[in-house]
Amino acid sequence: MSGFTRIYADANATVPPLPEVIDAVVAVMKSDAGNPASAHGAGAEARRVVEAARDEISELLTGVLREDIVFVSGGTEANNTVLASHRDHQDATFLVAPVEHPSVLKPLAVPHREGRLRWLAVDSNGRVEPDSAADHARRAPAGQRIVLAIQAANGETGIVQPVADVVSAVRRERDDVFVLLDAAQAVGRLGLNLAALEVDAVGKAAPEDEVAAVLDLGDGVEA
Ligand SMILES: Cc1ncc(COP(=O)(O)O)c(C=O)c1O
Repeated sequence: MSGFTRIYADANATVPPLPEVIDAVVAVMKSDAGNPASAHGAGAEARRVVEAARDEISELLTGVLREDIVFVSGGTEANNTVLASHRDHQDATFLVAPVEHPSVLKPLAVPHREGRLRWLAVDSNGRVEPDSAADHARRAPAGQRIVLAIQAANGETGIVQPVADVVSAVRRERDDVFVLLDAAQAVGRLGLNLAALEVDAVGKAAPEDEVAAVLDLGDGVEA
């Protein structure tokens, strides 16, 4: 179509990496760095690069301990890893809203079939209702594992979820609820204090300014 300039307007789905990101990746790939688990000099150099990345990411994610950071391929793998660690426990019930990303909903197909998934109510804008989360947590049998998965922000509707309100509502009912925060669309855009939000694990995609995706595995995560 001559005469038209094509504009790419889906930057929440993906964006080309920044030139400095490409430079950083290429520099490491061309370097003599070895396997970061190896004891020799080349391994030590690779380890230095990984640890420097870990430092930068822990600065970005307030409240996350650097040693809890696990590098994964993207937000999908981060969410899948956390949910898979709970899914096969027959006593686990999952609290999720229908507006969650497929990387949260698809791994829960089996618990859904088995009646171990509770849908959280959302308002007309797609915001999760904290009272609905609290109701489901209250009704879960004592001793049963409860896993709440909630996204920080929705990349299609732009809705920022009331994460702090939902998490405190469920924790008032059950202080042992496990919380997965899907922060794929939020990190680097919204200031998130993860310590204040009291979440247990965080999945995060790779925005344009990062090389890798990370998963914060806090205490109690069996991955
Ligand atoms: C809210 C949310 N969670 C998870 C993902 C999956 O992330 P990735 O594409 O890095 O696998 C996305 C991707 O758009 C997302 O918007």
